[in-house]
Amino acid sequence: MTVWFFLVPWILVGIGVIFVAFHGGGAGARQAYLTRGSRFFQISMIVIYLGVGLAVPAIILSARHDAQGATSKLQTKSASSSLQKGKTLFRQTCASCHTLAAVNARGVTGPDLDRIGLSNTAASVKRIESAIRIGGTGQRRMPAGVLQGPNAVAVAQFVAAVAGQ
Ligand code: HEC
Repeated sequence: MTVWFFLVPWILVGIGVIFVAFHGGGAGARQAYLTRGSRFFQISMIVIYLGVGLAVPAIILSARHDAQGATSKLQTKSASSSLQKGKTLFRQTCASCHTLAAVNARGVTGPDLDRIGLSNTAASVKRIESAIRIGGTGQRRMPAGVLQGPNAVAVAQFVAAVAGQ
């Protein structure tokens, strides 16, 4: 949508150039503009005024709509604040051992969480919750229970939402 903000001025410049050309260069255009003599000129000015008058509000309205659409993606305040909490907790408790591009984590002790087939599904959330509870796959290489309860859930949901992207 923002492309229109760049396009519209250039379209107007283009219309101006065409106008000048139609009236035989700068002097002719100035003449036409000052005297408002030609019917073509009057009509084209009306068309331009109407066009801009309709186009600008329309662009602003639809741009606002786009912006609203963008924020509603991670919808509901609680969902996004719990993801936010998961992100913070991940940075504090998991990032030292795991790589996760979404938070720029570069840990190498544990597997790269972008590359173990996690996706934004309930199954992945379960797998991560289980990894937190029992410590990875239970081979005692990852400490068990580094987070509990709602904190573990928040991190699991966050990781599932961003891993592998
Ligand atoms: C001390 C380092 C360390 C920390 C801290 C750590 N992990 Fe791990 N993690 C590992 C290691 C090592 C493995 C591989 C061990 C295994 O597969 O049993 C692993 C495995 C995993 C797996 C893969 C399990 C599977 O099913 O393949 C997930 C998911 C995971 N960790 C998530 C987390 C999350 C989320 C946190 C933060 C709450 C975290 N880890 C904190 C070291 C760590």
